[in-house]
Amino acid sequence: MTRQQHFGWFLARGFGPHGWGHPYLDWNYRWTSPDLYQQSVRELEQAGFDLLIIEDAPSLGSPSTIDLRVRQAFGGPKHDPLLLAPYLFAATQHLGIVPTVNPAAYLPYTAARQFATLQHLSGHRLGLNVVTDTGSARHFGDAAPLGHDAAYDRAEEWLDAIRGLWRSWEPGALIADPAAGRYADGSKLLPVQHRGEYFSFDGPLNAIPFTDGEPAIVSPGGSGRGLAFAGANSDVQLALAPLDAQSIRDYRARIHTAAVERGRRPEDITILFAVQPVLVSSAEEADRLVAASANPDDAAVLAIAEKQSSDLETDLTALDLDRPLDLSVFGDHVSQGSIKRLLGAHDPATTPLRVLLASLARLGRISDRTGFVGTAEEFADLIEDLGESADNDGFLLWGDLHPVTVHRLLDELVPILRRRGILRTSFGGGGLRGNLADF
Ligand SMILES: Cc1cc2nc3c(=O)[nH]c(=O)nc-3n(C[C@H](O)[C@H](O)[C@H](O)COP(=O)(O)O)c2cc1C
Repeated sequence: MTRQQHFGWFLARGFGPHGWGHPYLDWNYRWTSPDLYQQSVRELEQAGFDLLIIEDAPSLGSPSTIDLRVRQAFGGPKHDPLLLAPYLFAATQHLGIVPTVNPAAYLPYTAARQFATLQHLSGHRLGLNVVTDTGSARHFGDAAPLGHDAAYDRAEEWLDAIRGLWRSWEPGALIADPAAGRYADGSKLLPVQHRGEYFSFDGPLNAIPFTDGEPAIVSPGGSGRGLAFAGANSDVQLALAPLDAQSIRDYRARIHTAAVERGRRPEDITILFAVQPVLVSSAEEADRLVAASANPDDAAVLAIAEKQSSDLETDLTALDLDRPLDLSVFGDHVSQGSIKRLLGAHDPATTPLRVLLASLARLGRISDRTGFVGTAEEFADLIEDLGESADNDGFLLWGDLHPVTVHRLLDELVPILRRRGILRTSFGGGGLRGNLADF
């Protein structure tokens, strides 16, 4: 029996100028209006996807690199995905919607109340992608950004505090019985006096308890501390790893160990691996694309340099492309994972920057596992193989949320995955937690 898997979509550059830099800008959707996203989420639900995760950063990054971020809209502007969520709930019935939230940006009481409201309004379909980036600290009055692990400590305290507020209505506190003439029993509301390292406030919360569980927690961090956070708190882990059976098994084992260490069960976390395939109509077309990318021209290298400059908050376009990259150009705040991705297997001391950038521009084939260009059948083979050989829970397809992108990826893939029994054909109706627990 083929292993059924869960599928989600990761809107990887957030709620920003969709279509910018692509021919499909001329479809004339307005990125600031809900229609574009509503059309796309209807398609995702029809396709049997469990959830949509919306990336976010509340900031345009450090002042010195703002132009790099906004020049091609690589890193901004971004509108607030929490406020887009109600429009997406209104357009769907089953899909979970997961905006990214940063504990630096919301006081726990405000967060608990807003999330509770959305959980009720959506029929229990809210999830929260909890991130610990500290690059936006200056917008929220923090004297100095917290360190890596301290940001996770704060996130755990924040979540505990929010959960304390959600649970401040004890069983029996809500009566809502017209015959008894009583709506609620105030003596069953816990006062909640939180005095922590990062937050201090009193409850109880003035929102009623949930009937189908609390909002699902999603996390993306891949460090030891990040995996410990996921083990303790997350219902879904947004995982990044090479897509081979051994890497997936190793990653899953680390998360499962982290869960057990924090008193949870391995099956309490659904681990979804992020992937951005390029699906084409024939193996010959895939081979052509890969061959054409083997020797990127100057324009292709420059385009990669601009994108990397935005992600790394460092202007690579101003450096001499024919000299090795001096790693001291990167500030302390730049993600080590992103620097590693740029370097690949090259020796930074001897490899010209142009070679590093050109390597990123090169594509590989799904069929020989050197990359992610291939046909829908080839991609389905990879998905099926990892379900069977690595017990994989599922995938997050990574991209923008433009209807053109959604169709390009899913038109052929959905029927193939359904024929093979990998992709669901209906929903159980239990909200986002229900989607995750349906199989
Ligand atoms: C796949 C992925 C997605 C992420 N999405 C976001 C995001 O939307 N917003 C954000 O501020 N940080 C995001 N982060 C950053 C993480 O929350 C975290 O701060 C960073 O990965 C460092 O933690 P780590 O060392 O545990 O990975 C993301 C990280 C990864 C790996």
